[in-house]
Amino acid sequence: MHLDIERPGGGGEAQLDLGFLRGMFPALDGPPGGDWAFFDNAGGTHMARPVLNRTIHYLSTHRVQPHGPNPLAGPAGDEMDRGRATLAALLDIDQANLTIGPSTTQNLNTLAQSLDGLVAPGDEVVVSRQEHEANIGCWERLCRRRGAILRFWEVDSGTGELEPGGLERLLGDRTRVVAVTHSSNIVGTVHDLGSVSATVHGAGVVLVADGVSYAPHRWPDVAATGADVYCFSLYKTFGPHLGAMVVSEELLERVEPQCHYFNAPRSGTRLDAAGPQHCAIASLVGLGDFFDALYEHHFGPAVDPDTTPAQRAGAVGSLLQAHETAVAAPLAEFLVAAADRGLRLLGRPTMTDREANFSFLVSGRSSASLVAELGRRGLAAKNGHFYARRLLEAVGIDDVDDGVVRLSLAAYNTPREVALLIAALDSILR
Ligand SMILES: Cc1ncc(COP(=O)(O)O)c(C=O)c1O
Repeated sequence: MHLDIERPGGGGEAQLDLGFLRGMFPALDGPPGGDWAFFDNAGGTHMARPVLNRTIHYLSTHRVQPHGPNPLAGPAGDEMDRGRATLAALLDIDQANLTIGPSTTQNLNTLAQSLDGLVAPGDEVVVSRQEHEANIGCWERLCRRRGAILRFWEVDSGTGELEPGGLERLLGDRTRVVAVTHSSNIVGTVHDLGSVSATVHGAGVVLVADGVSYAPHRWPDVAATGADVYCFSLYKTFGPHLGAMVVSEELLERVEPQCHYFNAPRSGTRLDAAGPQHCAIASLVGLGDFFDALYEHHFGPAVDPDTTPAQRAGAVGSLLQAHETAVAAPLAEFLVAAADRGLRLLGRPTMTDREANFSFLVSGRSSASLVAELGRRGLAAKNGHFYARRLLEAVGIDDVDDGVVRLSLAAYNTPREVALLIAALDSILR
C-alpha cells in the first residue's frame, strides 16, 4: 500500500526538488562527451549515486565467492543478503517470493519453462499484442513444447491501444496463462492491472504482468496489481542491471523448480536458474538509500518507525511521477498538435493514464533521420521497434526496423530539456 504524497504534518503537497534529485546522478554532471539531454530512459535510466557507491564498495572490498566460513566470504555474502532484503522490503514482499535474475527476458524464460506442467496439449495461453518480445516468445515456445495454442489480445490498428473487451472474448476453459504488460514500452498507456487480474482470476487463470516499462515511472505496488507474477528491470529504475520477478506463494508451489535440485526445497531459490552478478545484488542496498534520501529530503526522517521502506518508496515514486508527468505534458500537447505536420503519435493524446513515453512516426521522414537530427542538437533519443516488433507490425508500420521515434522521460528530466526538445522538433518538422 503506497502512502499519500502529502507532506507529513499537513504542509501541503510536496514538490520535487529537482536539483537535489539530479545531484544523485553522477552521469548528469556533464559527461566528457558533451552536455546531452537524455530521452532514451525507457532503454535504461542512469544509475543513482548510492547504487554506484555500493557497487564500487562491493567490488573494491569483496571480489570473492560469497557466503562461506572464511573472513572474506562472510561479509560479501552479508552484503548480498542485505541487497535482496532491501529490494523485498521496497516491494513489501517476502524474500521467498523474489527471484533476481540477470534480466526480465531471462526471468520470463525461466518462468515459462517452469510452467510446462501447467499447460497440456490443446490448452491456451493469451498474450497481448502490446508486449515486448520478452513476454511473448517464451510463451510461444511453451505452446510449441506442449502442443498448446497462443492467442493474441489484439490492439487498435490506429492507436496501438489494447482492444476493450478483447481479453474477455479470449478467456475460456482451456486458458491457462495470460501475459500482459502493465504499460507498453511503445504505447505508454497504463493498464488497470487490478481489473485485469479480477477478470483473469475469475477464469481461474495465472496472470503474468510485465512491469518493465511501468516501474521506471512509478515504483510498483505489486500487491495492488493482483498479478501472480510481476516482473521489472532494475536498470530502468535507477539501479543495477538486474531483473526482479515476484511470484505468488501459490504459484511457486506449482512450478517445476529451475534451480539445482538440492536448492529446490527453499522456495526463494526455485526460479533462480543461475547466480546473478554479486556486486549488482549487493548494490540494491543503494536503491533503498536512494529512496530514503529522497524521502528524508521531501517528507521527513526515513527512520520514522511509522513508515515502511515500501511506503517511503511509494511516496517518493508518486512525487517523481507527478513531476515527470507535469514536465512531459507540453511535449504530449506538441506531439498531438503536430498531426497537421504528418506526425502520428501512438497511444493516448493526454497524460491521463499515460506514462511519459512517446512513440511516433512522421510521414515522408525516416525515424532514423529524425533521431539523427535530434542528436545533432544534443538530444539523445532512439528509433526502432524496441523489441515490440509484433505491435509495430499490427499498427501498420512497414519498415519496423526504422520503426518509431521514441522519446522517454525519467524524473530527472527538466522543463528546460523538454522545451529544447519541443523547439528542436518544431524546427525539424517545419
Ligand atoms: C516492456 C519491456 N518488457 C521487457 C523488457 C526486457 O527487459 P530486459 O532487458 O531486462 O530483459 C523490456 C526491455 O526493454 C521492456 O521494455
